[in-house]
Amino acid sequence: MSQLELQNLVVAYDGRTVLDVEQIIFERGKIYGIVGPSGAGKSTLLRIINLLEKPSKGSMHLFGTDVELPSLTHSKGLAIQRQMGYVAQKPSMFHATVFDNVALGLRYRKLDRARIQSLVLEALELVELSHLAAQRAETLSGGEAQRIALARALVFKPELLLLDEPTASLDPYNITIFERVVQMIHQQQQTTVLIITHNLPQARRLAHVCLFLLDGRVVEYGETETFFNRPACRELQDFVSGRMIC
Ligand SMILES: Nc1ncnc2c1ncn2[C@@H]1O[C@H](COP(=O)(O)OP(=O)(O)OP(=O)(O)O)[C@@H](O)[C@H]1O
Ligand SMILES: [Mg+2]
Repeated sequence: MSQLELQNLVVAYDGRTVLDVEQIIFERGKIYGIVGPSGAGKSTLLRIINLLEKPSKGSMHLFGTDVELPSLTHSKGLAIQRQMGYVAQKPSMFHATVFDNVALGLRYRKLDRARIQSLVLEALELVELSHLAAQRAETLSGGEAQRIALARALVFKPELLLLDEPTASLDPYNITIFERVVQMIHQQQQTTVLIITHNLPQARRLAHVCLFLLDGRVVEYGETETFFNRPACRELQDFVSGRMIC
């Protein structure tokens, strides 16, 4: 069953088209790897899905609702956005404790204190950083901050999780923990995950389906095994073999 569908999406900045997608369908409960060279439009795609930006054109079907993106109102957008977890390419922490950073989204959602306490502790446990709850977020190491950003995105158990190069600057230990958490919540909660990565082995390990974006277009889309072992288009063959010059 499709959980997220994008139709006729066009994003242009200063007259330059950076995303031009006829249709993409994401099915419920699958992990999608989004790969492609720098500047291909991957982050733009995730920001559009997370309603952080409006395209010039395009519609989206999400959580059973159809939305015409350019004319979406703030309040309707906010209600949809609150059902998604998002880890930005460069996540920023608020000047507060780790606990408060993870709790913030729940406070906006007006959950009661006891529920917030238990959900935050559960999310911190999931990323194996409960012991840092009282630490100031601005003092975290890069790897810790990234795992806290994941806890913040997962704390309200979103049906859809959007991850933009979440492990790009992490060491192998933190990458392993990060991937384990993604796999665990996917298995336990059937979360649909969209993960952008330049780490092709990571896309192979995590994703059921991969998309290759090039110059703002989805040029290949397929089951991960076929995608990497028998890529159909020349550009993806060049990309996976390291021959593509970006
Ligand atoms: N707000 C903006 N104003 C103007 N141009 C933008 C804006 N946001 C993105 N772009 C341009 O759109 C193109 C796609 O950017 P995007 O960040 O989506 O690329 P990406 O595929 O995520 O690249 P990377 O792998 O380097 O993160 C780039 O050429 C970028 O410079
Ligand atoms: Mg990007």
